[in-house]
Amino acid sequence: MKFQVPRGTADVLAEEAELWDYIEQTSKGIFKRYNYKEIRTPIFEHTELFQRGVGETTDIVEKEMYTFTDRGGRSLTLRPEGTASVVRAFVEHKLYANPDPTKLFYIGPMFRYERPQSGRMRQFTQVGVEVLGSSDPAVDAEVISMAIRLFEEMGLRNLRLEINSVGCPVCRPIHREKLVTHLHGVKEHLCKDCQSRLERNPMRILDCKNETCQELTKDAPTIDQYLCDNCRTHHQKVKSYLDQMGIQYVENPRLVRGLDYYTQTAFEIISEDIGAVGTLCGGGRYNGLVAEIGGNDVPGIGFAFSIERIALALKQKGIDGKLDTGVDVYFVTIGEKADSVSMKILDDLRKQGIKAEKDYLGRKIKAQMKAADRLQAKYVMILGDDEFDREQVVLRDMSNGEQRDVPIYEIIPILTSKLK
Ligand code: HAM
Repeated sequence: MKFQVPRGTADVLAEEAELWDYIEQTSKGIFKRYNYKEIRTPIFEHTELFQRGVGETTDIVEKEMYTFTDRGGRSLTLRPEGTASVVRAFVEHKLYANPDPTKLFYIGPMFRYERPQSGRMRQFTQVGVEVLGSSDPAVDAEVISMAIRLFEEMGLRNLRLEINSVGCPVCRPIHREKLVTHLHGVKEHLCKDCQSRLERNPMRILDCKNETCQELTKDAPTIDQYLCDNCRTHHQKVKSYLDQMGIQYVENPRLVRGLDYYTQTAFEIISEDIGAVGTLCGGGRYNGLVAEIGGNDVPGIGFAFSIERIALALKQKGIDGKLDTGVDVYFVTIGEKADSVSMKILDDLRKQGIKAEKDYLGRKIKAQMKAADRLQAKYVMILGDDEFDREQVVLRDMSNGEQRDVPIYEIIPILTSKLK
């Protein structure tokens, strides 16, 4: 029997892993600059956390969760997203006791039983941030601008930032009622999903991707016409901060997002370069979520993107994230005497921060030199019986082919100064 990875999952092989590392390191660098601290939460949580947090009527909770019963009879779920878990940790560890806003970031695998396609996986890795404890529109602007600056720093351009305000429990019910009344007349013509959304989650109908639904909802009332004063002012302020920072955005009053916890600001960053699933990043404010899962009335906002989608976009642009290719030195050993000291020498090199590799297959010198080429070695160090007796090694500069004998005990300072 031949095994393959489960559908919707993928192995990340060495080359791809370098690109992932580039994405993670660039993100962490930016998060530090904006004073965010890391949090790591478990990969599974009690199912109820997501039912309450993400929302009973969302696609995620209705049909995409990996839920199982453990041997103790508990219902657990592989996390489909990070926000609910971070908020749970915030409440559980009383992080709200800190007088300053809590600014957190996370990187880790998420799981959704979706129909896999390019950029849509069943296991994917999200990089996300959450800020808890401030409803200041400046925080919305910080979070949105940080996402944009992060993608720019990675080398991505031509991104479209779409923003909207999805209102709050004061103004949303008024819009909801108008929307439901408007859509009742065309109910039978909506897609099956939207027909059931009409009672339970009508706003989602506005961003249904089905063409018939889009046509039928062309003139449907959108939330922007019904925002309360508080939400309207908040939205204006977010936009004016973005204007000040020179961050371009498109207002999309149909932008709803697939999770129920959003209030006020919602946003997505879209790339035209990665095909059908063009959304690189999504986020927004969630002022009711902390209370919903048992905490006090603490506002929050955040975003997340997946490494898989960013990697697709970067590859489209020819960015491979290779910061450091090749090894510093390849150690060619010939004969038993050389072998007897090779591990000690290799260990000394590595202890000094030199990226060193040797042959472990007992190959002849020619094959070892070929390996050095494949590994893009900057230098090759050759040790045979003759050199061993003279306490020398041959050091070859692979950029110009020059080589000379150097005393073994001087190899570390010589290489260190050459590699500077
Ligand atoms: P989301 O829109 O469900 O939001 O996902 C955010 C991002 O995760 C997407 O824009 C996409 O880059 C990536 N993503 C989602 N599903 C998949 C998938 N099946 N395969 C690959 N990538 C995927 C959230 O998860 C919210 N927790 C974001 C947030 C944080 N809102 C506030 N704070």
